[in-house]
Parts: sequence; C-alpha cells; structure tokens
Amino acid sequence: MKNRLVINGDLGSTTVNRNIYGHFSEHLGRCIYEGIWVGEDSPIPNTDGIRNDVLEALKKMGIPVLRWPGGCFADEYHWKDGVGPREKRKKMINTHWGGVVENNHFGTHEFMRLCELLECEPYICGNVGSGTVQEMQEWVEYITFDGTSPMADWRRENGREEPWRLNFFGVGNENWGCGGNMRAEYYADEYRRYQTYVRNYGENRIYKIACGPSTDDYHWTEVLMREAGNMMDGLSLHYYTVPGTWQAKGSSTDFDEKDWFVTMKKTMYMEELVTKHSTIMDKYDPDKRVGLIVDEWGTWYDVEPGTNPGFLYQQNTLRDALVAGINLNIFNNHADRVQMANIAQTINVLQAVILTEGEKMLKTPTYHVFEMYKVHQDATLLPIDLYSEDYNSGDSSIPQISSSASKNKDGLIHISLCNVHHERSAALDIELRGTVASKVTGRILTSDDMRDHNTFQEPEKVQPTTFNGFKLEQDRLFVNLPPRSVVVLAVE
Ligand code: AHR
Repeated sequence: MKNRLVINGDLGSTTVNRNIYGHFSEHLGRCIYEGIWVGEDSPIPNTDGIRNDVLEALKKMGIPVLRWPGGCFADEYHWKDGVGPREKRKKMINTHWGGVVENNHFGTHEFMRLCELLECEPYICGNVGSGTVQEMQEWVEYITFDGTSPMADWRRENGREEPWRLNFFGVGNENWGCGGNMRAEYYADEYRRYQTYVRNYGENRIYKIACGPSTDDYHWTEVLMREAGNMMDGLSLHYYTVPGTWQAKGSSTDFDEKDWFVTMKKTMYMEELVTKHSTIMDKYDPDKRVGLIVDEWGTWYDVEPGTNPGFLYQQNTLRDALVAGINLNIFNNHADRVQMANIAQTINVLQAVILTEGEKMLKTPTYHVFEMYKVHQDATLLPIDLYSEDYNSGDSSIPQISSSASKNKDGLIHISLCNVHHERSAALDIELRGTVASKVTGRILTSDDMRDHNTFQEPEKVQPTTFNGFKLEQDRLFVNLPPRSVVVLAVE
C-alpha cells in the first residue's frame, strides 16, 4: 500500500483549542525551584525572581496555559503557607518528591506573576485529598474577589490590590491514587460537594475540572459523568508513555530499535484512550460541553544516573520529539472533545521542554515540536483521511505516519507529519482537495541518530531546519519524509 493523505481544505468546523499546547509545572525536583524560580537576589538574570531565559523561551514556544502546583503535590499543598512575607512562610516536607524541604517561597503571588509574564492562563489544582472545602473556597476568594472580604483584604495586605483572573481550577488530582485513594463513587460525591464552593466572584468565570481516570479506567469516567457530569466543565485524563515497566522504565538515552518501536506504539495508545473515554462522555454529554483535559502526558523513563530518584530528571532525545508530535496530532484530531492538554513537566522533570544546569539553559527536542506545532493553536481543524504503510517489529505493527492539519484565520493550511519509523523514509502522496495551493514551505526536526539529544556542551544538536523534500503539482503534494522526523508544512 502507498502512503496517502487527503486534506479536506474546504471542510472543518472545530477549533483546535490553543490550550491543547499547555504545560504542567509541579513542586517536584528542579521544576519550580531552579527551573523557574531563582529568587530576586540570584545572580541568574530574573524578573521578580523568575528566570529571564526561561520566560523568553516559553513565550517564544507559545505557552497558552500552565497547570500548578501539582500533581500529587497539590493534594498535600496548603496555599495559605505560601503567601505573605517569604521569610515568614512555613516550611514543609515534600513527601512525594524526594522528602526535601519546601520553603514555600514560590506560592500564589509568584505563580500568578509567572503567568502574567508568560501571558498565559493559570490553571490551579486544589487540594481535595488532605484539604478542606473551606480552604478551597477561600483560595478562589483570595485570588478572584474584588470586594471587601477576609481573603480579598488579606491579598491586598500581601501586596496585590486587584484580583487576578482565574479561568481554570482543578478539584483535586489523581484522587484514585496519591490524591486520597478514593473510589470513583466516593470521589464523585466529594467532587459535587467541593465544586459547590468554587465560586464565580464578579466577572470571573471558573472552568471546573474534575479528576478523571488513569489510563483505561473506563469505570471512573462512567461514574463521574453519570453522577457529576452536569457539575463540571472538564474531566481530566492521565496517561504516560512508559517504554518498560513501572519498576524498570528504561533509559532516556540508552535504547535500541525495539525500545524505540515500543515507545511509539505505547504513545499511539493515546488514540484509543481518547476515543473510548470520549465515547463514554458522549453518552452523558452528546453536545460535547464537557472537555476531556489530558492534563498529564509524556514519557516517563528511569531517572538520569546519579540524580535523586524522587526528582524525575530525564534527558530528552529525538524519540521524545516523535512522542510529542504523535500526541499533539491525536489531540488536534480530537479537538471536538479535547479542550486542553498539559505535558508533564515544563522544566527538568519528565518530558521537559527545557533543561537547566545552574545559569545554563537548553531547549529539548520536545520544545522544538511545540514551537513548530504552535501554528495549529486556535486554527480550524481540517478533516483528513490518512492511509499509512505499516511499521513492523516482530509480530507487532503500527502506522508509520501520524498527521493532523488545520487552517488559520488567514487561510493558511498547516500539515504536521511524523514519520515514526527509526530507519525507513516514507513517500507520501498528499491530495489537497477543496483548496488551491500556490506555495508550500516546510520545517523539519530530525537527526542522524535516534538517540541524539541536546546537552549543555552541545545545546543545538537537535533543532529545526528548513525542509524542501516535497514537490507541488496542482492539487498534489509529493513529500519524502526522512526516517524519525517531525515535519510541518505551510500551504498558501
Ligand atoms: O507528573 C508526576 C506525577 O505523575 C504527578 O505528580 C502525578 O499526578 C502523576 O502520578
């Protein structure tokens, strides 16, 4: 079979929500402390304690929304410990992540300032597992209430006159696990209770996100939608690509062709998960009002040798770029249900887009995929038909090509393509139906070796370059995709 792709340039009615390109930063390892927050007195150039190099890179990548403070950390976090004069803030133990001391220097004011500087939406996750309804209610009041009230007055005392705008609020994280080990039936009732007090003050409108399933826990989705679907705006889904087992996940840089294939296959499982959870949601919400919020996804490997096992620090190779490209194509293609996704985690943790070492910073191959794909943000999804040759390994097979396409407000069509094969190129015949194409340009991310990655010695080993491997003949575009590559084409 030949690889064929039909782009329906005159069809499409769904917007690719820019928040599909969202990120997640937890108080875990060196994500917040060092990765984002260095403090105002640091020799590392900063704005109000936040690293300038990181701000610049994340803005360039087009970060639309940032989830905080966890993760598992969220259900142990008591927000009142993180406001007021920093030297007086309570210290706590970060029991989930390495047992280190958390000095609470990065709290609500610092996070909201970060989002202001990034010009992105804040997405705060509240504490259901070990917090109270009152604590959650007061957090929202503290952040968003304009009038006179104990919390709004306290915010003013702490230096912030105006309320902030807060759109996204999560009612707990992984409450089936680290967030309280609850059963779906129990959490559904807790969700109903807690969300009652997550109030809309003044003009502020909160999009409430309920804790959703892990991976293929379809029972959780069924129960949450049945019992509380009408009280939520979003339901989360967590799924990580783990090439090995949870006990031996595999190395981020030392892997072979088989590991590569398994990683691609396990990533493509996201398609099945999103489809099946969406089908259950359709039963209770046929108009697709409730968004599926994939607020934790990405690769999870063994930590880098010699680093704290609780810090989840891993390198990021060309393999991770393909994982990002595949997942983002899946989310784009399901944009009628997927309203947000947040890769785990922004800096120095899991599939990070940025790594830091003291004052040094580098952009990972995953960063470059986000930057290349940002053209899809808020564009109209174009329906596609893809016929891909198989990529085989042993008796297992997956499609060799992954794709999605969108049209922006200026009429420009963008096609993102991943050739997931580790060594075979792919000739692809694209039919551009319903549009007249006059010019095509392209960018590619690839490298000589599948294990290639950026280091502090060689920070630009893997980076996007111009792509010319195509020929336009009227409504046909013949593309030659190199092995292990991510390509984005712009069609005028
Ligand atoms: O992202 C790391 C952890 O993975 C998060 O804290 C938790 O929600 C998930 O299990």
